[in-house]
Amino acid sequence: MRVIRCCAVLVLGTALGAMAAVGGGCIAGATHAGVYEHAAVAADHEIASKAGAEILKAGGNAVDAAVATSFALSVVRPYSCGIGGGGFMVIHLQDDPRHGTMQTAINYREVAPAAVGTDYFEGQDDPLASVRGGKAAGVPGTVAGLLYALEKYGTMDRQAVLAPAIRAAERGFKADTHYAETASELIEDFEANPAWKERFAFVWERYLLGGEVARGDRIRVPEQARALRLIALSGAPGFYDGEVGEAILRALRGDGGDQTIEDLRGYTVREIKPLRFGFCGYEIVGMPPPSSGGVAMGQILGLLERWNFRGYRDEPFGWRPAGFGPGTHLLAESFKHAFADRARWLGDSDFVEVPVDRLLDEKYLDALADRIDMRTTHGPEHYGSAGLERSVSFAPPEIDGGTSHFCVVDDRGSAVSCTETINFEFGSLVAVPEFGFCLNDEMDDFTTVRDKANAFGLRQSELNLPTPGKRPLSSMSPTIALDEDGRVYALAGASGGPRIITGTTQVLVSLLLGNGLRENDAESALWALRVHHQWMPNQLRLPYPQLTLDAEDGRVASLSHLRALGHELRHIRNVGNVQAIVRGEDGWEAASDPNKGGRPAGY
Ligand code: GLY
Repeated sequence: MRVIRCCAVLVLGTALGAMAAVGGGCIAGATHAGVYEHAAVAADHEIASKAGAEILKAGGNAVDAAVATSFALSVVRPYSCGIGGGGFMVIHLQDDPRHGTMQTAINYREVAPAAVGTDYFEGQDDPLASVRGGKAAGVPGTVAGLLYALEKYGTMDRQAVLAPAIRAAERGFKADTHYAETASELIEDFEANPAWKERFAFVWERYLLGGEVARGDRIRVPEQARALRLIALSGAPGFYDGEVGEAILRALRGDGGDQTIEDLRGYTVREIKPLRFGFCGYEIVGMPPPSSGGVAMGQILGLLERWNFRGYRDEPFGWRPAGFGPGTHLLAESFKHAFADRARWLGDSDFVEVPVDRLLDEKYLDALADRIDMRTTHGPEHYGSAGLERSVSFAPPEIDGGTSHFCVVDDRGSAVSCTETINFEFGSLVAVPEFGFCLNDEMDDFTTVRDKANAFGLRQSELNLPTPGKRPLSSMSPTIALDEDGRVYALAGASGGPRIITGTTQVLVSLLLGNGLRENDAESALWALRVHHQWMPNQLRLPYPQLTLDAEDGRVASLSHLRALGHELRHIRNVGNVQAIVRGEDGWEAASDPNKGGRPAGY
């Protein structure tokens, strides 16, 4: 146990030792973290963070910078998110000249095309129809969502905020370690399905360089600059109609998809009230359905807070490097309640009744907290309000290529927490070759086949069946924490499917309560180890090597403790890739997850 603690602290020490002033207003910065006096962006790629910071320095507000960051991510994280996908944005405006101080949430999640009804995927011969190919794509929402946010809450024009992304698309970028690793996993899939090389030729040739892509290779897809310029010129119709719209339909329909020009033209952004709940003196502002993230985090944090209030506070939380003890059990039990309710109750509240108030009701959370037993874990039927009566589930694959989260704060204290996705790495693999971007495979986030877990191993109810215009349930959890004066204190969010919820929650708690490594700073919050449980399968996942997990000699006492409580332990490489910003004494501490290799920027 001592050895493990030392190793973890050493790793952190190395990162901190690498701190160096990097100029541009950064007070201090390690490889993946920095402190900025005025304003900051933490994205999972440095070029995207810099795009946002450029806009902030030019006088843009947090929304302007968020829009610039997102369009840049479309270019430099083409396997994670982009103009072919969708997302959620939570906004806090501080003393905004037009809007004052307020919070809002923008829902630009993809929607099911008119042709996709409840039985659409049950009737398909291809078992991969909801994840790869033309049928897998929802109507993309990113362009509409970003432009909506810009027009209503931004201050700059489209040309200005799109300029950094257009530049990046023209210049290209170097494949980093995360790109190369993601590509190498996908190349294996292409080798196992040789017909894909022709079917998804753009991804194979341009993004995977014919299966030869390696770290340091330059990826150049200037075609996307053309799409971005059309968007800058004509706004949303420059994407959903005309040349780009036609090219999207050609790509999807050429691969068996059923989207129509009416689907594209009919896409609408939804602005909704964010979800709010308290946690240890902070007000948490999160994303309501069709994200499950806000509700799940509200439940988890509510349960953790209740246990703290019951004298549990001295118990080290499980995210301490050597602390996989009772605190981890408490986390796991809270996760299990939240994911059981996610499976049973959540869907798109524009289409089905989602009992958000009841799930976050104080008395209900009291009752769930009372059912947490510190002496043992239980079977799935014990958790949430009504467990789905199923006993098996796929182990969740460690898909982490899709989805990207970034945080922005500006010099006024306004902030944006934004998570976007095309779902799997490179989405459906269907690219729009004339304009150099991939279309999502968000249809798999619906309950595509009744009684079957989705590709993330998630059980979902019939409330999440697809119907035309409906948005699939998501785990994306863009979150902002406000202090008692209503000012932004911290922001966080992640990529990683269901691990978005567990990863974001653990980092946020670390930021708000401290984590035992250092005081609540962004960098150590990201370095601290995280655990994952999603109720089904009934497995607790820890970032320890399999060998250590299997050791029976008592060396790793805390793991033995977890086993004795009845947990089936499994290894996980990492629990989400989290980006976070927290207000520190010297400015905004911003950090990008070392696992994905991003870097923050600011001034
Ligand atoms: N596509 C992953 C999510 O939205 O949860």
